[in-house]
Amino acid sequence: MSGKLRLGVNIDHVATVRNARGGARPDPVRAAMLAIGAGADGITAHLREDRRHIRDTDMERLKSGINKPLNFEMAVTPEMLAIAERVKPHACCLVPEKREERTTEGGLDVVGQHNLLVAPIAMLKRHSIRVSLFIEADEAPIRTAKALGADIVELHTGTWCHAVEAGDETRAAAEFARLKHGAMFGASLGLEMHAGHGLDFETAEKLATVPEFVEFNIGHFLMGEAIFVGLPAAIAEMRLAMDRGRRAAGLS
Ligand code: PXP
Repeated sequence: MSGKLRLGVNIDHVATVRNARGGARPDPVRAAMLAIGAGADGITAHLREDRRHIRDTDMERLKSGINKPLNFEMAVTPEMLAIAERVKPHACCLVPEKREERTTEGGLDVVGQHNLLVAPIAMLKRHSIRVSLFIEADEAPIRTAKALGADIVELHTGTWCHAVEAGDETRAAAEFARLKHGAMFGASLGLEMHAGHGLDFETAEKLATVPEFVEFNIGHFLMGEAIFVGLPAAIAEMRLAMDRGRRAAGLS
């Protein structure tokens, strides 16, 4: 397995900045189009229950305004499922959501919530929406994701990225090994393997050496870099980092 690693750009935090002042600027749809022009292979937006960043109208404008796959990140609630049914994104990435969290804190408990996920996943698939489950890189949730009929699993990279940032080499090595094993295990079951949360240039380059991953979804770090160098330059640099990782592993 090899080939180009896709970069999905999460534009939530353009909306965070917009919402800090109200009004329409900066526009997340403009950011999505700029990101695509700079090499993003898809756009992710998380419509949270509290609408703290992306709003309903953003999802609709993204769907009609971009010419690359839209990945709609959402909690599994009747409200979000109805919106997904209406917007019909390319994919829905199902995530756990807590009102008090600053960002998604862990993977979806697909083992514990198996029975609650059956009908929503079936509904999304009936509408030809690809289903991605954001989960921890352990065998039990990956196996359950497959049994539930998910097309994709996105492995949660946040714990690994925190360990790298904290300089905790032992933990980082263990977490990287867990992600690598998870990617191999998921791919062996026929799942499309994605990864995301907390990735930066360094971690994206390293994770790109794992051939089973075909897509990374990256938001916060890119938007932070964009403040200093602009969004196209930040995306171009990320693309180079991912390509370096692929090359280092002899994958391109
Ligand atoms: N993937 C999922 C499922 C997420 O919840 C998030 C955060 O919204 C990301 C990827 C992107 O994470 P980050 O913003 O830290 O790059």
